[in-house]
Amino acid sequence: MDKFDLIVLGGGPAGYLAAERAAAAGFKTALFEKRSLGGVCLNEGCIPSKALLNSAKILDYAKRAEGYGVRVSEASIDHAAVTARKNKVVKALVSGIGMKMKKLNVTVISAAAAITGKSGDGFFVTGGGETYLADKLLIATGSAPLTPPIPGLREGLESGFCLTNREILDMTELPESLVIIGGGVIGLEMASYFNSAGASVTVIEMLDKIAGATEKEISDILLKNYKKAGVTFKLSCKVTSVGADSVTYAENGAEKTIPASKVLVSIGRRPITDGIGLEAIGVYTENGAVVTDDRMRTNVPGVYAAGDVNGKSMLAHTAYREAEVAVNHMLGKKDFMRYAAIPSVIYTNPEVASVGETPESAADKGIDVKTVSVSMRLSGRYIAEVNGGNGIAKLVVDSKNSRIIGVHLIGSYVSEMIYGAALMIETKIKTDSLKELVFPHPTVCEVIREALFEI
Ligand code: NAI
Repeated sequence: MDKFDLIVLGGGPAGYLAAERAAAAGFKTALFEKRSLGGVCLNEGCIPSKALLNSAKILDYAKRAEGYGVRVSEASIDHAAVTARKNKVVKALVSGIGMKMKKLNVTVISAAAAITGKSGDGFFVTGGGETYLADKLLIATGSAPLTPPIPGLREGLESGFCLTNREILDMTELPESLVIIGGGVIGLEMASYFNSAGASVTVIEMLDKIAGATEKEISDILLKNYKKAGVTFKLSCKVTSVGADSVTYAENGAEKTIPASKVLVSIGRRPITDGIGLEAIGVYTENGAVVTDDRMRTNVPGVYAAGDVNGKSMLAHTAYREAEVAVNHMLGKKDFMRYAAIPSVIYTNPEVASVGETPESAADKGIDVKTVSVSMRLSGRYIAEVNGGNGIAKLVVDSKNSRIIGVHLIGSYVSEMIYGAALMIETKIKTDSLKELVFPHPTVCEVIREALFEI
């Protein structure tokens, strides 16, 4: 029986990065992946959706080119070609991970893994017809789309009328109309692409706002931009059933039905904890997620969990960092996970990026804050590049110690700007010191400097 220092269950961002770090540090490492290396992020999430959204962005630019003095005779989406390009991008990145694993001598086992028990020698894991032994385990089995018991939804998913993030990225034909259940991150990114590509898009959202925890003023601006682009929203509406070619929802107590060519279900995700043998060694779960501490340890010594499976922050970049913290702890290095400065981005056009507290979340925690909101139009580059842009930058500052505890942005390039804001929060730098920082000119990030002087 092969014995490893570490067996990783799941080859997504948490799993493959943990395997990479552990193997580079000299651990004999095995990585189980039943589908494709890269997990949801690389195969059916972050990366493929960005490939699609970039094609939509190019089309949007072409359509608006006239306003910038550029004549474009005709521009349209070839959805099959967009999907083919997306597949090429995904393939290149997946094979890159495979090559890295090979280079680092990680044993990749293309099978579903299940923990079967524990002895004095370590943990037993079976998969692909073999049993392996390991000193340590990292559970990185990720998450799956939530599919609540809405009447007709299961049948719709079986027939292909309803799609999750997986199937929607593999359609080779544009649907005439797309109804999206859930106006969160996945719903909005897909609304952005399919609306630009030419489908008629309706988003049904249970809450009275879109984009979940996104700061309210920012989510209102995003909503305004979407509506202007042609997306229809049904807010404060709950889907009650799915028919063969329609969706029914409740609005102010009345039931309404709209027709649809396809339906995207994007109402959240749940950690995958079933079928992996957690009960065989007694790993605790709570609300369906593996319970971890800030070193990513579970209650079972030697067993760690990182990524969506612990349900803390279902983002690929959180998963990367959690994986590093777990491996560092295994290696005896001092490290711990902090969640206060994790950025989140919605890659729509315009982009939304946030990190830290909103004014509301700060108030809930009893933190006395000052909030400053400035227009992106304070940036010369923004004016030069964006006709009629309505982006803003909002800073949330802890009044007691003059530290930035939240930054919320909507506009161009903000996905690339937000890490700087995360650094401000993570390093607890004072606003006076930040004012001494020289920002490149002309850039859109200068709005953050402008906002600092408004505090
Ligand atoms: P989400 O939690 O972001 O949004 C789900 C939305 O569905 C919520 O606004 C909720 O109110 C609504 N909803 C729930 N039940 C409903 C019903 N019956 N009728 C109408 N609306 C209903 O979940 P989403 O978009 O599925 O994303 C899942 C995960 O994937 C998130 O954790 C997200 O962080 C991650 N993700 C991150 C991306 C990024 O960082 N750019 C991109 C895509 C996904």
